[in-house]
Amino acid sequence: MGKPLDAPLGTNTLSVRDNRTGKTYSIPIVDNSISATDFKALSAPRAPSEREENETEKGLRVADKGFLNTAVLRSEITFIDGDAGVLRYRGYPIEQLALHSNHLETAYLLIYGSLPTKSQFQLWHDEIMHHSVIHADAEQFFRSFRYDAHPMAILTSALSYLGSYYSEANPSLQGQNLFTKGDKTSLATMDKQIIRLIGKATTLAAMAYRVRQGREFVTPPTGLSYAGSFLYQMDHLGQENYVPNPVLEKALDVLFLLHADHEMNASSTSVLQVGSSLVDPYSAVAAGCASLYGPLHGGANEAVIRMLISIGKPENVPAFLEAVKKREKVLSGFGHRVYKTSDPRSFIVRKTADEVFKITGKDELLETAMALHDAAMKDNYFISRKLAPNVDFWSGLIYRAMGFPNDFFPVLFAVPRVVGWLAHWRQMMLQTGGVKIWRPRQIYVGAGKRDYVPLEDRVAVEEPKKTPSVVEHSGISKRTTLASFKGQTRAKL
Ligand code: CMC
Repeated sequence: MGKPLDAPLGTNTLSVRDNRTGKTYSIPIVDNSISATDFKALSAPRAPSEREENETEKGLRVADKGFLNTAVLRSEITFIDGDAGVLRYRGYPIEQLALHSNHLETAYLLIYGSLPTKSQFQLWHDEIMHHSVIHADAEQFFRSFRYDAHPMAILTSALSYLGSYYSEANPSLQGQNLFTKGDKTSLATMDKQIIRLIGKATTLAAMAYRVRQGREFVTPPTGLSYAGSFLYQMDHLGQENYVPNPVLEKALDVLFLLHADHEMNASSTSVLQVGSSLVDPYSAVAAGCASLYGPLHGGANEAVIRMLISIGKPENVPAFLEAVKKREKVLSGFGHRVYKTSDPRSFIVRKTADEVFKITGKDELLETAMALHDAAMKDNYFISRKLAPNVDFWSGLIYRAMGFPNDFFPVLFAVPRVVGWLAHWRQMMLQTGGVKIWRPRQIYVGAGKRDYVPLEDRVAVEEPKKTPSVVEHSGISKRTTLASFKGQTRAKL
């Protein structure tokens, strides 16, 4: 720090002159990145007019609302080149994996770093399938949801609920270094939770499905693939020798593989943020699931279908796009923080859709989807903003053709993404230097220090965003509003 500005050209450093003080700093560049903490050394005396909350004397802060250009860790798991439309898991192009691998093999690759041998895969597969059964009491948990509960709400809760069974996997009970020691016992404890979570993800998801259908739950079968077992658990109604359709099983497996990881997306970041407090992995994964639920992330596949239904037919596409351009609507399934061209997964999803449509028949919304896709790809609004289809644009159409209800689509995203969440969680637990709690800073722009005002001296603040809204009391009937009763505190609603 504080080195001269004329550092030799060609060195991996950044020279920064702080014009407030005239001091020059030399900041190392490592792997084409600079450390935000290096900027903390750039402090200056606070000008008399400046707010004390800026903490100018304590060093410069780095602001990045929405993490537009902040690398939160070093990772060996997934690489995306958003301009070229490249996605690689541990170096392997997604196209090759989709063609030759399967979801559980890819899961091994993502979590442990290399493709398993035949015997390694067999053991991994068997362990995961063996750990798919959950405690019988869980049935009551699933039955406790209201009939119309969103399956993502059920799954998120179920993942957290699952953790309550494993006190031996809880750092709050067993010691905070339970997963960070890196010794044989610690690794075995960690891997057991990983196997359990992947094994039981399909079971929990299938239970969330069946509870909505009013069906009995199904014990995970033996002898089926991961995707096959999932289909069986959702669909088996007691028929003898029930075997899911192999084309649908394969398609679901490919979709699982494509959704298994996507580097620092919102849900993986949530898992790491929550996991950084060293909470148990079930709680961390539940947080990831909650994040995935949102319509800007995993909920987009459900939003795409709702959007297509609202458009109705190809003739209505131009009017819809005009509304998008006026910012009255959003084109769900388009755009991505990292991809500035088509998401490579969207091509594979499109191809998989054709395989599925061959046996299910085409979805009636396909024509509208294609018309929307083609029109958006030719429209300057989308071209100039580099907005192209993402994985969610086509995936919902396959899920629909397979007969899944719309609100189940994000669940079909969450189940495979458990793998990516765990790969990132494991990597963080074992990273050199241990786990650092994720505790970002803020730029405080609120009120400066002020003294408490006695009740009688206060002036009412009336601005809508600065006072509580008047809320409707749900479930109150007209009859109740017209009734009188002791303790009634409000005028008629
Ligand atoms: N429809 C219309 N305009 C859009 C869209 C869209 N889908 N996406 C981005 N834009 C516009 C945005 O309004 C902005 O315009 P301007 O520069 O004039 O203000 C510009 O394009 C840049 O977009 P941004 O909002 O700054 O981009 P972001 O990186 O913050 O957001 C995104 C990325 C995925 C949240 C966003 O593109 C979006 O909301 N897409 C629709 C939801 C969706 O499909 N999500 C799934 C993402 S992929 C899978 C996953 O992660 O789950």
